[in-house]
Amino acid sequence: MKRKALIAGNWKMHMTVLEGCRLAAEIVASCKDYTDREVLLAPPCTIISEVSHILAGSKIILSSHNVCWEEKGAFTGEISPTMLQDAGASCAIVGHSERRQVFFESDEVINKRLKGALAFGLMGILCIGETLEEREAGNTQAVLERQVRKGLADVPASQMKQVVLAYEPVWAIGTGVTASKEQVQETHAALRQLISEIYEKDIAEGLRILYGGSVKATNVDELMSQQDIDGALVGGAALDSISFARIINFE
Ligand code: G3P
Repeated sequence: MKRKALIAGNWKMHMTVLEGCRLAAEIVASCKDYTDREVLLAPPCTIISEVSHILAGSKIILSSHNVCWEEKGAFTGEISPTMLQDAGASCAIVGHSERRQVFFESDEVINKRLKGALAFGLMGILCIGETLEEREAGNTQAVLERQVRKGLADVPASQMKQVVLAYEPVWAIGTGVTASKEQVQETHAALRQLISEIYEKDIAEGLRILYGGSVKATNVDELMSQQDIDGALVGGAALDSISFARIINFE
């Protein structure tokens, strides 16, 4: 089964309003009118609203880097699902490795964030990934299974159409060291099998699983040629419209 590809650009903590609007405009201009793929941009929260105006009229999906599980209240530093929708976003990334490694977000908090996003109708991109130490210790599968099972806890089958999984081996993020297409295909196939055990085969077959970790214009084609790689979550290469356009226009 071929799922609609999703190429997502995670801008992380980069871009002023002017820089972000300029980049968004360049990406809109470089997007062909595809039917077999979707494009998503995840700018910093400070510029989501401005970027939404640039993307108006395009099919590009706008996402945040995180989201709270409550609609409003005493949650200093947090952004609610409805605030994101008000600003023009329709998706939230949750569980990014930088949230886990740098800000110590637990599987339980990430699960609450995902359920909050889904409850308010947002798409949720659940990020998972092992560290180099975990891989070298032979614990990759166990780590990923824990992150998936805890991240998706109490997410009903009816909401799984709103979920995208993003496998981002921590040792490949920002390092220039990309996992091989064989490593990624093997991991994604195992993740799809796990989802079929947690839910059912149809849901597993329909779930898009993205790869993230040093995706570049030079390696996107071979990654996207793999049966269970449904897209990419791109960091550094998403900050340059020429390289990101080449990734969007993968062959
Ligand atoms: O969320 C995507 C990001 O973590 C990957 O970063 O720079 O390795 O493409 P990068």
